[in-house]
Amino acid sequence: MTADRATNRVEKGVGRGEPFAFTLDGRTIQAFPGETVAAALLAVDIRTLRRTEKTGAPRGVFCGMGICFDCLITVDGRPHLRACLTEARPGMDVATQDEAGWRAGRA
Ligand code: FES
Repeated sequence: MTADRATNRVEKGVGRGEPFAFTLDGRTIQAFPGETVAAALLAVDIRTLRRTEKTGAPRGVFCGMGICFDCLITVDGRPHLRACLTEARPGMDVATQDEAGWRAGRA
């Protein structure tokens, strides 16, 4: 697997299923069954998921429980999904969002 190496996951004493991969703006990301997209991205230090409309300031996981909407992403062409509530699935195509709420990672 060519996925990024996890850096922030607790490794000792944790049982996980088989890893799988999805992409974020074309970059391969490793995830494990039951993880949210946000958890998989935080594990490899990806923190900016969208930019604000007025200033373009970066936003990412803030509340981690579906309240703040700072973690909006596009999944398989569907915009405005919350990364903290979206379960990672093998092969999903995830994109960060620009200030207008659409794909930013690809021109
Ligand atoms: S981090 Fe707040 S809604 Fe996802």
